[in-house]
Amino acid sequence: MPVTRITLPDATELAEAAALHIADSAGRAINERGLFHIALAGGSTPEQTYRELGSRVTDWSRWRFYFSDERFVPYESSESNYGMAVRSFIEKAKIPTEYVFGVNTNLSTAADAAEDYEIVLQKHVGLTEGDIVRLDMILLGLGSDGHTASLFPGMPSLQEKQRWVVASAHGVLPPPVERVTFTYPLINAAREVMFLVSGSGKHSVWKQIEAGEGGQNDLPALGVQPAAGELTWMLDYAAAGC
Ligand code: 6PG
Repeated sequence: MPVTRITLPDATELAEAAALHIADSAGRAINERGLFHIALAGGSTPEQTYRELGSRVTDWSRWRFYFSDERFVPYESSESNYGMAVRSFIEKAKIPTEYVFGVNTNLSTAADAAEDYEIVLQKHVGLTEGDIVRLDMILLGLGSDGHTASLFPGMPSLQEKQRWVVASAHGVLPPPVERVTFTYPLINAAREVMFLVSGSGKHSVWKQIEAGEGGQNDLPALGVQPAAGELTWMLDYAAAGC
């Protein structure tokens, strides 16, 4: 598992570098396999990267978008990761929504939504050897408590070895709403996983991650180890402590 760590002076340069890296990975995937399957991260950090990406790419016809986690709220909610991506990226970049596969948060329960999303992934991404869904890229954020996607410290979702997507109770950080999240089996099957980390508020947790302190049960981001893929950490100086 090659690990690359890239630090940029500030959030703007982080977003520009991340957008270029994503577009470059997309070009290779499209040349090799015809499509680029990317899972978007939630939270606030990626918004600038999505805007940069939207200003650089014009032909989205071979891109397919998914979400590495979702809050179990309506898309119209300000807490929806799908809603954030649509408002900050999909609409502005004029990406056809038929290329964007969100978690169906209209279903009765988060557990139903998780099961449904596994079917969506299998249908649109397909299965590779070993009967696993292998996304080309999964974008992830890092919470100040060490969570990533909606894999929160001490939660049962961290022990999941078979399922690709599961429901989870909320963690200690807001918003206090139920979640639907990728699991380690799905994340670690990806061709590339890229963390986007920005701001001094993430410096403390980054130092723990960098030192490998504790285990994935306390710092879930440590469990992201794509066995046959690349792991890229992109941080601005404030988060990295440069
Ligand atoms: C979510 C995200 C979550 C996020 C981190 C960092 O649904 O909230 O998936 O894992 O990436 O909490 O969030 P910020 O980028 O807002 O700091």
